[in-house]
Amino acid sequence: MRLSLVLLKNASNPKIEYYSRFSPSPLSIKQFLEFGRDNACEKTSYMFLRKELPVRLANTMREVNLLPDKLLSQPSVRLVQKWYMQSFVELLEYENRSPDDPHALNDFLEALIEIRNRHNDVVPTMAQGLIEYKEKFGFDPFVTSNIQYFLDRFYTNRISFRMLINQHTLLFGNDTNPAHPKHIGSIDPACSVADVVTDAFETAKMLCEQYYPAAPGLKIEEFNAKAPKKPIQAVYVPSHLFHMLFELFKNAMRATVEHHEEDETDLPIIKAKVTLGKEDLSIKISDKGGGVALRKIDRLFNYTYSTAPTPSLESKRVPLAGFGHGLPISRLYARYFQGDLKLYSMEGVGTDAVIYLKALSSESFERLPVFNKSAWRHYQGGPGADDWSNPSKEPRDTSKYKAKR
Ligand SMILES: Nc1ncnc2c1ncn2[C@@H]1O[C@H](COP(=O)(O)OP(=O)(O)O)[C@@H](O)[C@H]1O
Ligand SMILES: [Mg+2]
Repeated sequence: MRLSLVLLKNASNPKIEYYSRFSPSPLSIKQFLEFGRDNACEKTSYMFLRKELPVRLANTMREVNLLPDKLLSQPSVRLVQKWYMQSFVELLEYENRSPDDPHALNDFLEALIEIRNRHNDVVPTMAQGLIEYKEKFGFDPFVTSNIQYFLDRFYTNRISFRMLINQHTLLFGNDTNPAHPKHIGSIDPACSVADVVTDAFETAKMLCEQYYPAAPGLKIEEFNAKAPKKPIQAVYVPSHLFHMLFELFKNAMRATVEHHEEDETDLPIIKAKVTLGKEDLSIKISDKGGGVALRKIDRLFNYTYSTAPTPSLESKRVPLAGFGHGLPISRLYARYFQGDLKLYSMEGVGTDAVIYLKALSSESFERLPVFNKSAWRHYQGGPGADDWSNPSKEPRDTSKYKAKR
């Protein structure tokens, strides 16, 4: 343990430096599946993870260090850094431990569970750090865009880290889910998309009804262009899909109820359309909640943007909205396996939110941030001058240009 203490004190230690020089190795859903189904070998998984997990941690830890000092010194951000360092050090204990050591595999499994639990609150804690910073110093556009860039990468890293840990602990630990014997770890090889849509909708509806007198209904349609009339199934992580849909439904419901305040008995329904083509599996959630102006659409994906009041962290009630993390994090889940999430809105009427997933599990490769020179460059220098014209505030004095008679 003495080694751990030394490492903990030394922010730029050689081990982080060493592991961050490796790029993470992205896996596809198909690979996760085949490994778990056909040749699940705990030793192989151990050998892979004891290197891959420190590599992924080190890559992101190097990047944390590039944040502005004033942000790094916020207590919540320091706490998060401490968790990462602690987990990194714990993983290093397996660096040279043979998989044939009778206790190694079991100790490793327990260590992974502990690490996963330690990182449970990373997102709200980082969010708290941002609030602390914003209150003291305010955000300039450069800091805002840096933080956006950083958090997208940091949270993607976290999603991937949890994915790896969950696969290992679900396949080789005792916490297999008896309700889903056909799942391979956290992956459902035949995930009924419409079922997850319904589940997410019902959960959001219960929450909506706690805050408003009513909630809109749902209509699901399916178009299977690959196998007409067959229900659409995905090889996917249902918990990720649920996360995205739950966030989209909460947003659609809040917009619908607030836009139709006068007549809560007759709310326009939310439509969900699930489609499957050769390349894409798409899910569109359409509401009649009044929409958002085009000028504001990009902003909705900012981590600190919300039009709802900030919910109290002490409150025991689950909030319906207000942290502004719903859309950006859902988009990360979609992009993590090479999909995307887009909003198309028509102001005054409503919004379509579309989740795109890869139809083929062999194309669903993890999309992972890599710490390198070009990532580093993002954090340097100031914002460049705008290279598109700005509408001038003063009307131009055209008399200057009048042709001489
Ligand atoms: N379907 C929608 N219709 C209208 N506005 C929306 C919709 N979805 C999102 N928004 C706007 O985007 C903002 C950010 O959404 P989100 O990231 O989920 O955070 P939160 O819901 O916590 O505010 C919302 O506060 C809302 O103003
Ligand atoms: Mg939301």
